[in-house]
Amino acid sequence: MKSYNLELLKLSGLDFIFKQNIKHPEIPLKTNPDLKIQHLPSNPISTSVSLETLKLKYANCQKCPLHETRTNVVYGDGNPNADIMIIGEGPGAQEDKTGHVFVGPAGQLLTKMLKAINVERQDIYITNIVKCHPPQNRDPFPAERQACLPYLREQINLIKPKIIILLGKVAANTILGQSGVSTLSYYREKEHYFQNITTFVTYHPSALLHNPSYKLPAWHDLQRIQHYLENN
Ligand code: URA
Repeated sequence: MKSYNLELLKLSGLDFIFKQNIKHPEIPLKTNPDLKIQHLPSNPISTSVSLETLKLKYANCQKCPLHETRTNVVYGDGNPNADIMIIGEGPGAQEDKTGHVFVGPAGQLLTKMLKAINVERQDIYITNIVKCHPPQNRDPFPAERQACLPYLREQINLIKPKIIILLGKVAANTILGQSGVSTLSYYREKEHYFQNITTFVTYHPSALLHNPSYKLPAWHDLQRIQHYLENN
């Protein structure tokens, strides 16, 4: 727990909730794919409080130029105790307007994709690489992604998901950053680790909306993820 969290919790009289939290050891439990135990649940109440605290820290973020054109910081939504954390690219226009992730057409498709492998939106946590809408839906610039990355790392540390799913090449390149890699299929075909968490890559739902021929390979990715979840 970072000190800013502690300070805010104490100010709001909620430090007793923090004390109930069982701190799990920061050992690389998930580095060995042969070990099966290892997803220790977080305390959902304290995780939720910590996520809210982090959200307050974001509220006035001016670390990159995207703050100049945003309406809302789009922090992330979902279950603080999720096994699955999904990371998209950056908020679109509807997300900027509402302050919530994946509420537009790509979000609706994402909900359907998840349902197809028996995963409900309320069971997962979703966020983006950058928390502010890039104008004209352009790709976020590398400096913008790097500026936002510490926030994402903190979200992951709090939620401690069992798996991470990266949607699209921007998310994959930012998180897995293999220099010189230019194709999504390079990432999709492998299982990765980020912060010691098993990480999968698949298509961004916006890509599926623009090019329906990606739906079949995306379905194969989802089945691989479902198989992993059922066996770990
Ligand atoms: N696309 C994204 O990458 N994220 C959203 O929140 C919406 C669309």
